Amino acid sequence: MARTPQIVATQFIILSLLSSFALILVQGDDQDFVRALDRKLLGLEKEKFSHFKMYWHDIVGGPNPSSVPVVNPPTNSSTAFGLITMIDNPLTEGPELTSKLLGKSQGFYSSASQKELGLLMAMNFHFIQGKYNGSTITILGRNQVFNKVREMPVVGGSGLFRFARGYAEARTHTFTPATGDAPVEYNIYVLHY
Ligand SMILES: *[C@@H]1O[C@H](CO)[C@@H](O)[C@H](O)[C@H]1NC(C)=O
Ligand SMILES: *[C@@H]1O[C@H](CO)[C@@H](O)[C@H](O)[C@H]1NC(C)=O
Repeated sequence: MARTPQIVATQFIILSLLSSFALILVQGDDQDFVRALDRKLLGLEKEKFSHFKMYWHDIVGGPNPSSVPVVNPPTNSSTAFGLITMIDNPLTEGPELTSKLLGKSQGFYSSASQKELGLLMAMNFHFIQGKYNGSTITILGRNQVFNKVREMPVVGGSGLFRFARGYAEARTHTFTPATGDAPVEYNIYVLHY
């Protein structure tokens, strides 16, 4: 096929774009704000794979709720679409709220599905025990709360969980319709250093 002037012009433009990108990349190596690091410097040689099990308490009722709606659904949607609830939910070792406190799950969940009850969970698991004190795991995912098992991605972390990735499995332990309170078992499988 003969090359029309338009095709030649387009090829010229693409080539010049590509070469200017190449120029930027080459120059990038010389920039002061970025440098290649040896991962050994940060002790990032050996990646660990850990399983954490805990209970997440959504305390909705009573005088001291840990889970508070801050935006009500703007429509009469049966799935409460648009609801946003802020949480500072206790994380405990066992299913009882009185068992050892491991940390708090802080963030929000929001009703993000119009057809069935599907929540967007955005939360930091902030640990307070032992060497994990102050470290966090960040979970961002979809939670179809009436399913037996819900899987949500671990998208990152801080402290001992720098560079974390993995997933969490949530299983409702019990649900008290009168109060709305629900301890949920969380099993978190995470790769970290
Ligand atoms: C919501 O309100 C609309 C209009 O008032 C009504 O037609 C619809 O049936 C309501 N839906 C629910 C789930 O109550
Ligand atoms: C966790 O760290 C905080 C702040 O650094 C400190 O006040 C607290 O005593 C620590 N808790 C444990 C259990 O080590």
